[in-house]
Amino acid sequence: MDKNSDWVFGYGSLIYKVDFPYLDREPAQIEGWGRRFWQGSHDHRGTPDAPGRVVTLVPEAGRACRGMAYRVAHEVFEHLDHREKNGYEHHRVDIHLLERDTTVNGTLYVAGRDNPAFIGPADPADMAEHILSAHGPSGDNLDYLLALAESLREIGETDEHVFDLERRVRARLAESR
Ligand code: SIN
Repeated sequence: MDKNSDWVFGYGSLIYKVDFPYLDREPAQIEGWGRRFWQGSHDHRGTPDAPGRVVTLVPEAGRACRGMAYRVAHEVFEHLDHREKNGYEHHRVDIHLLERDTTVNGTLYVAGRDNPAFIGPADPADMAEHILSAHGPSGDNLDYLLALAESLREIGETDEHVFDLERRVRARLAESR
């Protein structure tokens, strides 16, 4: 990190929807966190009356979570904070850059259990139905899940929580054809 920039680690839409300028970008990993579709989305993939389901991180001992790290100018956080305003807060975290094989310290957006939009766990079949039915200003909740699953495969991440939901929504889509 230099004084004009900081690293940010993306594990959800920040992996595949890059609507901000960056100085560096590299697949990366953090330790001790697991990705979950437990956060409500009122402003992107759902509405306040019918929130979508998007990912947050929960502490999970021994779990490595792979995503994308970006080095960005400090001004970029204004845009990111606005984009992640529905319950996400900054955390500091050690980020292992996989290509450079080095660790940097940076920022992470986590929507904690006490934020008003937090939904929490549910039966996977119900979560899949929920995701199939939700839509918001940024598009269908389904597209969020499919784009995330695809981008995780591209960086070599195996996330059974995400891939199981992907299989479920694909099976439901095939049934309704
Ligand atoms: C992230 O991608 O790092 C935060 C969650 C999201 O915007 O999907």
